[in-house]
Amino acid sequence: MNNIRFAILGCGRIAYRHIEAINKTAGAQLVALCDLDSSRTNSYAKEFGVSAFSNYHKMLNSADVDVVNIMTPSGMHAEHTIDIIKRYKKHIVVEKPMALRVEDCQTMIGVAKDNGVKLFVVHQNRFNLPVRKVREVISKGEFGKLSMATVRIRWSRDQAYYDRDPWRGTWAFDGGALTNQAVHHIDLLRWVAGDIVSVSAIADTRFITAEIEDTAVAWVKFANGAIGAIEATTTVRPSGNDIEASMSIIGERGVAIVEGAAVNKMAFWNLDSTDVAELTEDIPNVYGFGHDHVIANVVESLYNGAPPAIMGEDAQKSIELLNAIYCSIEQGGKEVLLSDEPRSHRLGVIKEGDNWIAELYRSQI
Ligand SMILES: NC(=O)c1ccc[n+]([C@@H]2O[C@H](COP(=O)([O-])OP(=O)(O)OC[C@H]3O[C@@H](n4cnc5c(N)ncnc54)[C@H](O)[C@@H]3O)[C@@H](O)[C@H]2O)c1
Repeated sequence: MNNIRFAILGCGRIAYRHIEAINKTAGAQLVALCDLDSSRTNSYAKEFGVSAFSNYHKMLNSADVDVVNIMTPSGMHAEHTIDIIKRYKKHIVVEKPMALRVEDCQTMIGVAKDNGVKLFVVHQNRFNLPVRKVREVISKGEFGKLSMATVRIRWSRDQAYYDRDPWRGTWAFDGGALTNQAVHHIDLLRWVAGDIVSVSAIADTRFITAEIEDTAVAWVKFANGAIGAIEATTTVRPSGNDIEASMSIIGERGVAIVEGAAVNKMAFWNLDSTDVAELTEDIPNVYGFGHDHVIANVVESLYNGAPPAIMGEDAQKSIELLNAIYCSIEQGGKEVLLSDEPRSHRLGVIKEGDNWIAELYRSQI
């Protein structure tokens, strides 16, 4: 069978993880890279012998591509995904967060369906060994009734990080610690412990100068009756230390605590006799190995017709929850019900002063 040919759109911080994952996956082949800034593509293009472009229309008009992996600024994911599907009918792998507005998620899903292409969303932590174990045991009912499920992230993003690119730290294109960093764990909380029916949250911007929050806490109520909490901060100092991304589940029949810098280490497990060491993955950085599974799933799904492991419809639920959290924050911590379809008034909303940033990242045909 022919290789599945991948192109990467956006060669910033996360691009190398995709390149590595494509290069190590049987049946996957990297064919092209695109970034507005050629200094971000040239060395990779030389190293891997693929073509580099600064305009994605030129790339998709000249390179033979099956799948485009989109890792442009978060607030541009929807526009780039929709444009590429409509014009070029390519399958899409889109980085987290899938989009910032729920309505944009819906449009992305609809456009993919209408054009007969697949939409894969990157939430790589869902593939972590201890996370999969906890989810499997909960879905089989082996935990019994849950009392509490929590996630906590204590990472470090200093002012230099926010100053690196114009989209960072903006409501229109990024969102804060909850959106950019904790979206992984917000996604895990509901994917592992079940649907959430209401939320209340507060947030602040403590150590940086930016529009968005660097610190937030939320409590949630699950449809199954359990209660939970989300604790998210990127204020760990001195900078450069992502010290914790964890999840804990307390059920009638046992407890699971997953820790590590990226929910990769089973720290406590008493549901059965499995040793915690067997449920732990050592990872080189907070990105972990999940992208390898994401790319392997794309190849498998395109070969055998199986649905993506992480469907747009499911990833959209995490964006609904994220919007509900911000909606509560914007109302001073009021409890909001997910059934009311709460939306943030700021996240993903392009104000007049943001137009130049949108123009910067909007690809000219
Ligand atoms: N899964 C993860 O663990 C993970 C980690 C980091 C980032 N991400 C996500 O990946 C996305 C990118 O993050 P990053 O940190 O790599 O950002 P970045 O700013 O370092 O890279 C984004 C790149 O996109 C390029 N770009 C923007 N518009 C473009 C266009 N029209 N054509 C070509 N190139 C364009 C920019 O020039 C930039 O180099 C974000 O949505 C982020 O949330 C995911």
